Amino acid sequence: MPWDIKPPEVNIGVVGHVDHGKTTLVQALTGVWTAKHSMELERGMTIKLGYADGNIAYCDGMPTPDAYTTKEQCPDGSESRLIRRVSYVDAPGHESYMTTMLSGAMIMDGAILVIAANEPCPQPQTVEHLMALNILGIRNIVIVQNKIDVVDKKRALENYNEILKLVKGTVAENAPVIPVSALHNVNIDALLQAIEETIPTPERDYSKPPLMYVVRSFDVNKPGTPYDKIEGGVIGGTLLQGKFRVGDEVTILPGMRVQVGGAKSQTFKYEPVTTSIEEIRYGNLVVEEAKPGGLVALQTKLDPSLTKGDQLVGSVVTRPGNEIPVVKTLEVRYQLFERIVGARELVKLPPLQANEKIAVAIGAASRVAVVKSVRKDVMTIELTDPVATWSGSRIAISRRVLARWRLAGWGIIEG
Ligand code: GTP
Ligand code: MG
Ligand code: MG
Repeated sequence: MPWDIKPPEVNIGVVGHVDHGKTTLVQALTGVWTAKHSMELERGMTIKLGYADGNIAYCDGMPTPDAYTTKEQCPDGSESRLIRRVSYVDAPGHESYMTTMLSGAMIMDGAILVIAANEPCPQPQTVEHLMALNILGIRNIVIVQNKIDVVDKKRALENYNEILKLVKGTVAENAPVIPVSALHNVNIDALLQAIEETIPTPERDYSKPPLMYVVRSFDVNKPGTPYDKIEGGVIGGTLLQGKFRVGDEVTILPGMRVQVGGAKSQTFKYEPVTTSIEEIRYGNLVVEEAKPGGLVALQTKLDPSLTKGDQLVGSVVTRPGNEIPVVKTLEVRYQLFERIVGARELVKLPPLQANEKIAVAIGAASRVAVVKSVRKDVMTIELTDPVATWSGSRIAISRRVLARWRLAGWGIIEG
């Protein structure tokens, strides 16, 4: 009997420094190459968050780790037992896309930190991504020591010790370190075992009202599709709690960005969007219900011009009547690092100043903000565009250092 494929139940982030092999690893785990956009293909790097669903299966009667597989068929020809479906969230490693990595981190239940063995460890984004996991409280981490095929035993061991030194005192202190060649599919079984043992599926709360973070939105119609064949706008993301069903009414907040006061105006406001769900999909799997865990795509009745080109990224989807504050001014209790971790140079950070521009990751939204006033550990910030959020949310704070946004600290929204 072929597997009874179910939706993925957990989001596992794949993070680490540029070119260390994250996308190659996701391909080894899922068979899917997530970097699809033309600029990504051109430059050979991940720019947007990539997603792919994969299987973790087990061949009964075999020793571990060999028993772990992503395939339906075991080496002896028998059928493996599907344990879990996983959505992998492939983050960009390049320092220019740190804010994208941070939005992705907000939806990770656990993470794989990829470290290439053939470069000195740590590289800047190895540290910066590890710090992001640390401040966002992503505690279930597996470390992949990648590109093991291009180093000798001595270097592998040296690199292993560099890794242990790096993670000491962090959230990844006790993370297993699995040597892998993502390119040649070496030790993927041991990695699957480590994922199973280290990154459990969190308990989900289905009794609460549904809340979904939107991490992408698009128009699925080919140019020139006749009017009566046009399919509604699609929003993709992950549920934090509750459920959606086909036919449900949903509200998207803060919603649609509209110009105020004529075509040349630079003033915008956001209007909540209400629509209903026509179809729910996890990859190619069409289902009746969307639940937390896994990246889900909701096809709506919206005009696809409202969803095309990731316009709704950073929004929150809920059901009408579930009041979620849409705010531009936030009070944040914050903590800053002593120095910047994501640059090659050691940069000490001055205290935050009134009028300083910062970038904040709030849920799946990344926003630029201006510091309005600042006390020792509480600041008031004004966002350039509003977000739907609630007090108690954890945010990541980046500052402009050496011409890029660098992770600089974190905070909790107080009001
Ligand atoms: P960004 O998305 O830009 O951060 O890069 P990435 O971490 O996704 O790296 P990617 O998977 O694109 O791989 C970068 C390069 O490393 C490619 O040329 C891969 O073929 C190569 N690579 C990845 N894994 C391995 C490996 O295990 N061994 C060897 N020899 N090369 C690898
Ligand atoms: Mg690359
Ligand atoms: Mg990549």
